[in-house]
Amino acid sequence: MQTQKKIKDLRQILKTARSQGKSIALVPTMGNLHEGHLQLIRQARDRYDFIVCSIFVNPLQFSENEDLAAYPRTLEADRESLRSENCDCLFLPSINEIYGDGLEQQTSINVPGLTENLCGSSRPGHFVGVATVVTTLFNIVQPDAAFFGLKDYQQFLVIRKLTQDLALEIAIHGIETHREESGLAMSSRNNYLSEQQRQQASSLYRCLQTCAEQIQQGNTEFNQLEKAAKKELKQASLKPDYFQICDADTLQPPSTDTQHIAILGAIFVGKSRLIDNIRFQRS
Ligand code: PAF
Repeated sequence: MQTQKKIKDLRQILKTARSQGKSIALVPTMGNLHEGHLQLIRQARDRYDFIVCSIFVNPLQFSENEDLAAYPRTLEADRESLRSENCDCLFLPSINEIYGDGLEQQTSINVPGLTENLCGSSRPGHFVGVATVVTTLFNIVQPDAAFFGLKDYQQFLVIRKLTQDLALEIAIHGIETHREESGLAMSSRNNYLSEQQRQQASSLYRCLQTCAEQIQQGNTEFNQLEKAAKKELKQASLKPDYFQICDADTLQPPSTDTQHIAILGAIFVGKSRLIDNIRFQRS
């Protein structure tokens, strides 16, 4: 596996791969790779010829009160994992390589409609940061496809919409969440949790499942269901940020007729803020 830090060097390698008729897939990450990321690499590997994984802890998607400096960085272990998954190229740019004129002067991408609620209201500016870096990475790599985890479902919808709106010819693949045995969704932020907090945090997935079962049994008292879930999360010593039942395509409140449902939850536990979701068609 090669590592490239400069856009121009990466482009040279990609040009060669393309000239050999190879299809290219990008897996954008912020590093601290876990099994969930490796599933993305595997899925990409199965379907495309040349796999680029980017590791870039994007300052533009962190707000001032979020600790960018403390974000876990495990480059050597990440490299080893990527090598063992036969990733072709690691793109490891510096902040200056991506934001040459500084963060303040950076042209940004705003995706209206999908970014105002849920994580968008708890983390102002977050999705502008994500959309901007992902668009930049897409323009650098110009991949045929890109792979994202569905744990970040709102992020997935935002990226899918920006790809459509900006007429980018990139297939966006969403890959199912990888879970620990307890149901806890894999996340780099789980590293901050004690064993007890890990157990507590697994209640989020149980609450999502219970809520989904209730809806599947015909309960359309969405507000009541959300309230009951938040109560249960508090009883498990978790601090809910949001727990919302949404139309899975628009992330707006569902009507009693909405068929495609997403339930999204965010909790604070210890120093971490964790998110998860569940999606289904009403039967
Ligand atoms: O999901 C992530 O790790 C990040 O938000 C992403 C998509 C790599 C953009 O920085």
